[in-house]
Amino acid sequence: MNFHILTLFPDMIMQGLSQSIIGRAAEKGLLSIEAVNIRDYTLDKHKKVDDYPYGGGAGMLMQAQPVYDAWKSVADRVDERCMTQGIADEATRLRTVYLTPQGQTFTQNLAKELAQEEELVLLCGHYEGIDERVLEEIVTDYVSIGDYVLTGGELPAMVMVDAIARMVPGVLNNDVSGVTESFEGDLLEYPQYSRPEEWMGKRVPEVLLSGNQKKINAWRLEEAEKRTEERRPDLYEKYQQLQTCKEILRKQKLLHIDMIELITRGQARLVYMENANICLQDKASGTYFHTATNLENGCKLLEIIAGDAREQKREGTEEKVQLLTLHQDFMLEPTKEILGLREVMACYQATYTRREKLSITGLYSLAGAHKEGQVEICRLLPEHVDKVCQYYDMLGDVDETRRYAKERIQKGWMFGAFLDQELVGFIGMHTEGSIGMLTVLPEYRGRGIGKALETYIINLSLEQGFTPFGQVEEQNEVSKSLQESLGLCFAKQKIYFLEQK
Ligand code: 6GU
Repeated sequence: MNFHILTLFPDMIMQGLSQSIIGRAAEKGLLSIEAVNIRDYTLDKHKKVDDYPYGGGAGMLMQAQPVYDAWKSVADRVDERCMTQGIADEATRLRTVYLTPQGQTFTQNLAKELAQEEELVLLCGHYEGIDERVLEEIVTDYVSIGDYVLTGGELPAMVMVDAIARMVPGVLNNDVSGVTESFEGDLLEYPQYSRPEEWMGKRVPEVLLSGNQKKINAWRLEEAEKRTEERRPDLYEKYQQLQTCKEILRKQKLLHIDMIELITRGQARLVYMENANICLQDKASGTYFHTATNLENGCKLLEIIAGDAREQKREGTEEKVQLLTLHQDFMLEPTKEILGLREVMACYQATYTRREKLSITGLYSLAGAHKEGQVEICRLLPEHVDKVCQYYDMLGDVDETRRYAKERIQKGWMFGAFLDQELVGFIGMHTEGSIGMLTVLPEYRGRGIGKALETYIINLSLEQGFTPFGQVEEQNEVSKSLQESLGLCFAKQKIYFLEQK
């Protein structure tokens, strides 16, 4: 990912971001950070970049011309790079963020969203601001880092680069990107201790020295809950509501595994809950999940979803495909009518209910430990997008499939099976958490490659503390028997995916 920061104080930016984790990631080539000095672009012979505001008032304004020319120099270079790489994304505007106290507040969600961009421009204002005309011309997002006023946009820009960069796969030391690191989402971190065992008469809690990982995990969860209740009662209330939801959903675990996992992985926003009538929204994709005890309650829930979607649009969260998952067949017709959606798919959910990993003997080898004639499984890279799109499509929408595959690969959630360096099959985890996209190239079918891929991703999910699950379309007998052979359990009832017409 490439950051371009337009500023009057390039040294401040470069010094701040050349250290520690972000500095190392830049050295490794995982990202690049460039500070463009706006002053270099002024046409004024005294290198002036500011002037008095028309209509009077305090202070000076940054003028349009140098800001625009500095931005244009970046935009031209980005265009050129896209051309030579054959990614002519003309439709997508170069994402340009203006740092201003008048913007939307920067959050973890916005950090995640911006981390998907390949190129990101951050514009730092100074003095009393920037001439409105150039902002209208180049800015796509107005962002503030909180409700207080700073003297310039440089510190906020550095805050944003730091938060966004750690979402880029490989920047943090752990295997999967920062997106999945804390899957208890709504809780603060538990307290941690290092050597010595005793300091100033205070001992490290005994349980941490016990070597009993189960007990340690339970202790940490309890501490995290206590801490959240004390320090962030607002978060704690949300957390408790979601826990209650989870308990209710567990009464039909196989049917609701998608909603349960959404909560466990910290991706769920509770839209509404009344007894076992529950609506969640996936914070990552915007997809709504609906479950109800009867028609009347179900319809009431639909009205609530409609209102919620309207409200979100007003709040200016970026526009999302309106997707909805139903868990009861009696809701299908009313949902089409009330929300104007159409049915896309009916699926059975399959859950891997055990905690033990599957045996991989004879199935595949991992990169580096390759055996002759055996498939090797590794994480996919951006260069594999074309091949993936050639064999996998989402409802015939080529552009959407491409965007989605690219995003899944970037997040580190797609894996390929390779035979003699050739990609012969792949699998991935959907944004909502289900395992899917399993594809084996026709000439390589019937040799256990699908089983190898699914075994790999199930084991990886277990390592992350997830309950692995997938969705199988009604008619897909091949997939059904694969799931069964791996020991996954099917729900008796189907779930239904609907989308905006
Ligand atoms: Cl983005 N800029 C300035 N000048 N002050 C701020 C801010 C941004 N976010 C919070 N305060």
